[in-house]
This record gives sequence, C-alpha cells and structure tokens, in this order.
Amino acid sequence: MKVLVFGSGGREHALVWKLRQSPRVSKVYCAPGNGGICRQAECALADVKSLDSLLSVARQLKPDLTIVGPELPLTLGVVDEFTTRGWPIFGPTKAAARLESSKSFAKSFLQRHHIPTAHYAICNSMDDVIDALPHFSPPVVVKADGLAAGKGVVIAKSKEEAASVATEMLSGRMLGEAGSRVVLEECLEGDELSFLVFSDGERVAPLVAAQDHKRVGDGDTGPNTGGMGAYSTANLIDDQMRDWLVNHIARPVVTGMKDEGSEFKGVLYCGLMMTARGPMVLEFNCRFGDPETQPILMRLDSDLLEAIEASIEGRVSDGDFRWSSEASVCVVMSSGGYPGTYDTGKKIVGLEEASRMEGINIFHAGTTERDGAFYTSGGRVLGVTARAADLPAAVKRCYQAVFSIGFEGAHYRTDIAARALQK
Ligand code: AMP
Ligand code: GLY
Repeated sequence: MKVLVFGSGGREHALVWKLRQSPRVSKVYCAPGNGGICRQAECALADVKSLDSLLSVARQLKPDLTIVGPELPLTLGVVDEFTTRGWPIFGPTKAAARLESSKSFAKSFLQRHHIPTAHYAICNSMDDVIDALPHFSPPVVVKADGLAAGKGVVIAKSKEEAASVATEMLSGRMLGEAGSRVVLEECLEGDELSFLVFSDGERVAPLVAAQDHKRVGDGDTGPNTGGMGAYSTANLIDDQMRDWLVNHIARPVVTGMKDEGSEFKGVLYCGLMMTARGPMVLEFNCRFGDPETQPILMRLDSDLLEAIEASIEGRVSDGDFRWSSEASVCVVMSSGGYPGTYDTGKKIVGLEEASRMEGINIFHAGTTERDGAFYTSGGRVLGVTARAADLPAAVKRCYQAVFSIGFEGAHYRTDIAARALQK
C-alpha cells in the first residue's frame, strides 16, 4: 500500500517514521517534506496552501491513502475534494474543521452542547468589545477568530490592554482576516492537557494524553509558539479521567457535529485546561498536534495504519491502539529569535551521533539537506524525542541527545516535563 503524507514538520516526520513500520505499507510519500523526511520517504514538491497543488501531487503519485498533517489544507477542504474523487484520505471535511478554523464556531458549539469551556463573548466590532468587557475581570484572553499559527491568543493583564489588542486584531493590522472577529474569554488556571482521539464520525478512541509547552522560554515565559516540547506518560491522567474526557468532551463533540450535519472524521485534538472546576476546553484542533505527535507515536506499539483505516471505514474502537507504559519526551530545538524573526541556513552538527543513542528519534521540522549535510530552514528545526522506562530517564536521555546537537543560534527549553518531575 502506498501512503502519502501532506506537510513538512516534526509531526509529519513522526507520521512517516511510524507508517514505515506498518507491514502493509510498501511506500511512503511526503509532500513537501523536509530534509530529514526525505531520507525516509519519497518527497514531492507541493504547496499546502493550494488545493490545486495537493490534488496534482495526488494525481501524479496515486497513493492508496493520504494523511493530512497541517490544518490549512483541511480548512480549505482538501478532504472534500479528495472524497468527491473517490480518493481515500484521513481527516475532517471543511465543515467539520470549523472546530479549529473558527473559534467563534467552536465556542458557540461548546455552549450549544453544554461542554465545559471558559465564559466568552464573540465580538464583531469595537462596540461589541466595549459592551462585553464589563462582564470580565482581568486577565482577559483575547483570541482572533481565524487561524493564526499559534499567534492568535493574547492574555491581556488589564481591560485596557484587552481593548487595545482587540482594536489591533479587528482593524486587520495584527493578523489580517483572521482577526476580523475576536473572542474574549475568561482566563482559566491549571495544567494544560492535549487529549487527542480518533473518530469515525460516531465512535471515538483516545490516544495517550500529552502535555505541550507553548511558551518560548523556561518557566513558561515569553510569547506563545507552535510548541517547544511535549511529553507523554502512562500516569499523566488515570483511566477514570480518560473515560470522563471521552464521555463528557470528545464523544459529545463528535455526536454534536454529526447531529448538526458536519460529521467529524479524523483526529480531534482537545486542548484542555485542568481547572479546579474540572477540565475545560481551551481549543480544538482538527489534526495531530505538533509536537505532541512525536512523543505520542513513540509510545504507540501497534500499527498506526490500522487505526487510520478504522477511522476512514467507520469502525473505530479502543482496541485500535496498543500503548507502551514507558514515558516519552520531545524537546524542540528552534532557531534563535523564533517565534519572531530568525536566520536560516545554519549548518546542524552532531545529528548522526545523537541519532545513534538508544531510545532516541530525531524528527526534523525546519531542515534542508545539501551535499549530505543538514541546514536550518525554519523556526522549529528539530524535535529530539526519547522513550525510556520512566519520565526521569526519558528526560535525561532526551537532553543528552539535545546537548550533542548544535547549530548557530540554537534555542531550546531546558525545563520540558520539569513540573511533572517535581510532582
Ligand atoms: P488556543 O489557541 O485557544 O489553544 O490558545 C493557545 C494557548 O493560549 C493555550 O494553549 C493556552 O496556553 C492559552 N489560552 C487560551 N485560552 C485560554 C484561557 N481561556 N485561559 C487561559 N489560557 C488560555
Ligand atoms: N502543539 C499545539 C498544536 O499542535 O497546535
């Protein structure tokens, strides 16, 4: 079976790595891929912002199955286009992907279906913001309605700051069209949890939970990023909590989407805050998380292809996954300056030595290969991922590998999973 993966990040590298282990996969393609992926899959040029480009790649490669990494093609309707043509593809339709592409849709949906989430107000204008602000106490979370690659959320310390951020968003100056509507939200406190499930439109099967580290700096300081590291352990949540999250969040979402005529198939990523009032939904993504996928797939002992087929064919069940009880950790190495501006083209050294270390996988994100050497080409460059018997061992192993890799201006957090280790 020939499988095509769309995307070019660490998440896609992890998907390619895992799919290659599937006994029924004879060939893995990736479009456009990156330096590391192109060592493990046949890469094809593609622009994930263009449906025409993706359709043309698929027409040329004729995969038996396509898996979509990033959100943009999903929200543009790549699944709808493939399905019309009878081409098997894993992911939600454009209508179902609104759970990620419109925060106002997601919040109203949660309210309609009585699924726990922060208090909010949807604002189409500054008049709406001025009317809504008295109902919030600071800090106030201001969110752009549309896709903003992790840059669409500001936690404003005062109402004045919230109003000024909302002005910037609504004017289009801050995030363009994505900010033409904003959502104000109550600020929640607690530990964040990434809870992903596979769905076939009706049933759900949870993956192991993971925790992301979104801020760029140690101690959760500095601006939000796409994610600077993540870990997954068997005791991040217990069975009772997992069942609660399935019964009160994931399944009601899938049932609600079906009832509303937008069946959700694919990966539903529930971004949760574990508050004193119980778990609450911060956001949905309609795809695998990055970097959560790297540690999650490192713990998957069963066949990823089988689980994906179960989703497409409408027979998802808990038995689709077999997980290791070991722990896994991913530390992202980024270009200095990310998530702001940064330089690229820096030579990466130490990769071979690090990849030979036991229990280590180095998933590439922003890299290119030239004459047998790897160079940086993006903000997040590598996701160094370790699996070991327990979390302390996995963290130690992961940083040993990170320390042996270098490139000019390299940045990484030194405290991935540190809070869990303290507990
Ligand atoms: P989102 O894109 O909605 O997940 O927001 C990105 C990040 O902003 C989340 O992972 C949280 O760290 C933070 N965030 C979003 N909404 C809230 C909220 N209501 N309260 C506190 N933090 C939030
Ligand atoms: N790690 C957060 C995300 O994938 O959006």
